[in-house]
Amino acid sequence: MRRHGSAVLSEVRLPARSHSLRTASPSETEGLGRHLGRLLGPGGFVGLIGELGSGKTVVARGIARGLEYDGYVGSPSFVIVNEYAGRVPVYHIDLYRLADAREIETIDYRGLFFGSGVAVVEWAERGGEYLPGDRLEIAMTITGRTSRSIEISSTGPAHGEVLTSFVRVWKERG
Ligand SMILES: Nc1ncnc2c1ncn2[C@@H]1O[C@H](COP(=O)(O)OP(=O)(O)OP(=O)(O)O)[C@@H](O)[C@H]1O
Ligand SMILES: [Mg+2]
Repeated sequence: MRRHGSAVLSEVRLPARSHSLRTASPSETEGLGRHLGRLLGPGGFVGLIGELGSGKTVVARGIARGLEYDGYVGSPSFVIVNEYAGRVPVYHIDLYRLADAREIETIDYRGLFFGSGVAVVEWAERGGEYLPGDRLEIAMTITGRTSRSIEISSTGPAHGEVLTSFVRVWKERG
């Protein structure tokens, strides 16, 4: 992921701020995560938002696969943080049980959110002000037994570039 540098005139291009798509199966949703994971690097942050069973863990598994982790990716609800050894560390976090955003201070959130790995956070909206300002957000809605409506948005320039690249590879995927 490239940090926002000085703007060279010929490169001026607004990064994508949001993109909506639909998936028709869990494997297609996992594929979305996999494409995204390939584009992420140190400092990457993906917040996953959506009701129970909308597919947040499916996306997290795809992201871990895209970051070259082949092992088990389950729900971290009970331990709050699962760490996977991918190309860079993948921190899979579930904030479902958080009663108050301030409880996030009981984990090393700075190391997880602003360190050398990629953080993938389910129920990210519960993290409130603790979330990094520059991040991706994936909002998932159940539209049928096997279909999901998914909106991916970026909140800053670094993840805006990730999203721009994602939109290109997603459209060109085979
Ligand atoms: N298009 C789809 N994309 C993702 N999951 C799908 C899709 N269609 C059906 N599913 C099913 O929906 C379920 C999604 O479960 P998952 O654990 O990922 O949800 P979650 O959002 O993480 O829920 P929780 O809030 O409990 O953590 C799985 O059983 C998956 O097989
Ligand atoms: Mg889950």
